Amino acid sequence: MPNMVLIGAQWGDEGKGKIIDVLTREVDWVVRYQGGNNAGHTVEIGDARYILHLIPSGILHAGKKCVIGNGVVVDPLSLLKELDELQQRGIQPDGRLFVSDRAHIVFPFHRVSDEYREQARSHGDKIGTTKRGIGPSYADKAARVGLRMGDMLDPDFPSLLSAHIKEQNSILAALGAPPIAEKDVLAEYTAAAKRLAPFITDTIPILNRGIAAGESVLFEGAQGTMLDIDFGTYPFVTSSSATAGGACTGSGVAPHRIDRVIGVVKAYTTRVGEGPFPTELLDDTGKMIRETGHEFGATTGRPRRCGWFDAVVARYSVMINGIDFWAVTKMDVLDSLETIRICVAYECGGKRYETVPANIRVLEKCKPVYEDFKGWKVSTKDVSRFEDLPAQAKAYIRRLEELTGVPVWILSVGPRRDSTMKLPLKPK
Ligand code: GDP
Ligand code: IMO
Ligand code: MG
Repeated sequence: MPNMVLIGAQWGDEGKGKIIDVLTREVDWVVRYQGGNNAGHTVEIGDARYILHLIPSGILHAGKKCVIGNGVVVDPLSLLKELDELQQRGIQPDGRLFVSDRAHIVFPFHRVSDEYREQARSHGDKIGTTKRGIGPSYADKAARVGLRMGDMLDPDFPSLLSAHIKEQNSILAALGAPPIAEKDVLAEYTAAAKRLAPFITDTIPILNRGIAAGESVLFEGAQGTMLDIDFGTYPFVTSSSATAGGACTGSGVAPHRIDRVIGVVKAYTTRVGEGPFPTELLDDTGKMIRETGHEFGATTGRPRRCGWFDAVVARYSVMINGIDFWAVTKMDVLDSLETIRICVAYECGGKRYETVPANIRVLEKCKPVYEDFKGWKVSTKDVSRFEDLPAQAKAYIRRLEELTGVPVWILSVGPRRDSTMKLPLKPK
């Protein structure tokens, strides 16, 4: 199999976990390269439901090797909780989960600082973060004051952490937050270091040796293109490179090793947290999509904002990520609609936009230009071949391909592994 990067092409929660699960059968390695436990990737296998935050979804396939790459920020306590939960459910990560010694650590003061910064922002400025300490941990990385997973293996880890806590407590004081109890954090994190030590390693040569030996890799993006620190709706974004380029910098695998980029999109759009969302539906249709699609955050449980498919966002995503194929999820959620809309461009101040403007004050004022489609009004959830879909559903998919210039490879009509069809494609 080729080496593939799978990214979210909207605002996250596109169904990446499910598609990763479907594709994992065909690869040897699954690699997370950015983000942290702000991610929530759901995989349904039969009646069992797993929500993964830090560990690549590939772990659910026995024998597949998984990497948490250098570009990820790791909350060790959250990682241990996830490991324990998997082990309790009979999934064994020993010997096949590798955590980069270069990945930065998320500490409790990052979480507190995340929360206090959010509280301090006025109503319209709140980002609506997951409060997992992701932004402050990446800020420490960029400020060159962070600690990394490899530091946990150092006999000097307690003294390194002690110095770090003192510095962080002065930052917390400036935010008006109570100090972190040094003793408790030291005890918790040195115990975590002991338990995680067998997983922490230099993942770069291990992964590159595997690739050189002909093994294939699936890079698992977290979040989505519109939440990327550079390309998203800044400042209403996360703090990492969620786009395809991040796969290289976040794993230590060179760009020429990547053969294919798969973009995951929902057949409509959702966003959780604050920030501009041109096709958002604040009416009963939005409510119906939220209820039918169970659009509530896998990490925070917050209701997701819902809207029509935005081809402007999708085209922008194609350009930035070099998307070769689409995986379209949640077609079934649109089954009962009379009319379905696709946004083909934006209009703002008499100007037509074919791509996403950088200035969010402009984006906030953009009005979508819609194309309307007749709904198919029959259930698609048991359809297993594209040919068997209702004509209107096929037309909708074909138009989505035309508007984005990218063919659909995978189509998903339900949360489970078997509610997935692969469309015939010309080989790349
Ligand atoms: P991720 O963060 O991109 O992995 O996506 P999430 O797991 O946060 O959210 C996607 C949700 O949609 C999960 O609850 C999935 O089980 C569910 N899901 C995925 N594909 C489909 C589909 O085709 N139809 C329906 N109805 N649900 C789906
Ligand atoms: P997956 O991988 C959807 C959003 C938050 C917030 C913004 C910044 O499941 O698609 P952060 O805590 O990262 O500083 O929050 O980003 N966000 C996500 N939205 N899915 C995610 O992950 C998200 N991870 C972060 O809601 O708006
Ligand atoms: Mg999610």
